[in-house]
Amino acid sequence: MSRFSDQDYLLTEQYHNASNLMDRIRLHEQFSTNPYGWMAWLFDQYQLPADAHILEVGCGPADCWHKNYQRIPAGWNITLSDFSAGMLDSARTHLGDNAGRFTFRVIDAQAIPYEDAHFDAVIANHMLYHVPDRPQALAEIQRVLKLDGQFFATTIGPTHLQEMYDLARWFDPSIVFGSVANPFDLENGLAQLEAWFLDVQVEHYPDSLVVTEVKPLVAFILSTTGNAREILQGDRLTTFITWVEEEFSRQDGQFFITKDSGIFKARRA
Ligand SMILES: C[S@@+](CC[C@H](N)C(=O)[O-])C[C@H]1O[C@@H](n2cnc3c(N)ncnc32)[C@H](O)[C@@H]1O
Repeated sequence: MSRFSDQDYLLTEQYHNASNLMDRIRLHEQFSTNPYGWMAWLFDQYQLPADAHILEVGCGPADCWHKNYQRIPAGWNITLSDFSAGMLDSARTHLGDNAGRFTFRVIDAQAIPYEDAHFDAVIANHMLYHVPDRPQALAEIQRVLKLDGQFFATTIGPTHLQEMYDLARWFDPSIVFGSVANPFDLENGLAQLEAWFLDVQVEHYPDSLVVTEVKPLVAFILSTTGNAREILQGDRLTTFITWVEEEFSRQDGQFFITKDSGIFKARRA
């Protein structure tokens, strides 16, 4: 099994808290070219009733709720869940004084501890590709949604961050990132969702990165699932940083990276 869906590795190392994820979020915050912002765009997608009961699975540090806090309708009842208790602690800390507005619960998306037809919406952002038994998770999400309830799931496309991965592998071909083929991306996700939901639609968020600083890019590379952190240590890391700096100079200090992120929106059958 690749580390990408190795729940033990994800729970105890990659997502034992939000530090790896925050290294990645910071690169996007600093160098994304679309000024609107992924989190603002994402929140726009949640067109829900004023009194909606919402469950987010794999909520991570809850950055979308943090960034859009002022926009949350007063009547929304929001449960934030993640299978990592450490990640939920990071979410509470990240939300700070606003954490009391939310319910927090440790939940594995493959076994959701709520009765049938409980929620108006379930959200699963950038997490379904980590779940080993995705049909089981999708069955659970469908089960806890009310009739006509809505499901939102973000993920990435096959070209997402390609230049960054190529850069690292150009330096050292033994570096691997996540899984060879993403098991739930913006292309192969459609058929998977259509097995469980109606009216599945996909929308892409237009964006890219133009990175002008080496340090946050290297922090991103080291934070990923895969073996970059093991390979790039000590002198090897120093050599890599110098090598990336030279590559940046060759590109006039502006390193372009493709982004391909988007959302699936669907309705419960
Ligand atoms: C890439 S992060 C995404 C976090 C957040 N949704 C976001 O978009 O910023 C993936 C999250 O899914 C969680 N996760 C992985 N497998 C899970 C599972 N089986 N059930 C619930 N959460 C899971 C991880 O702990 C992590 O917080």
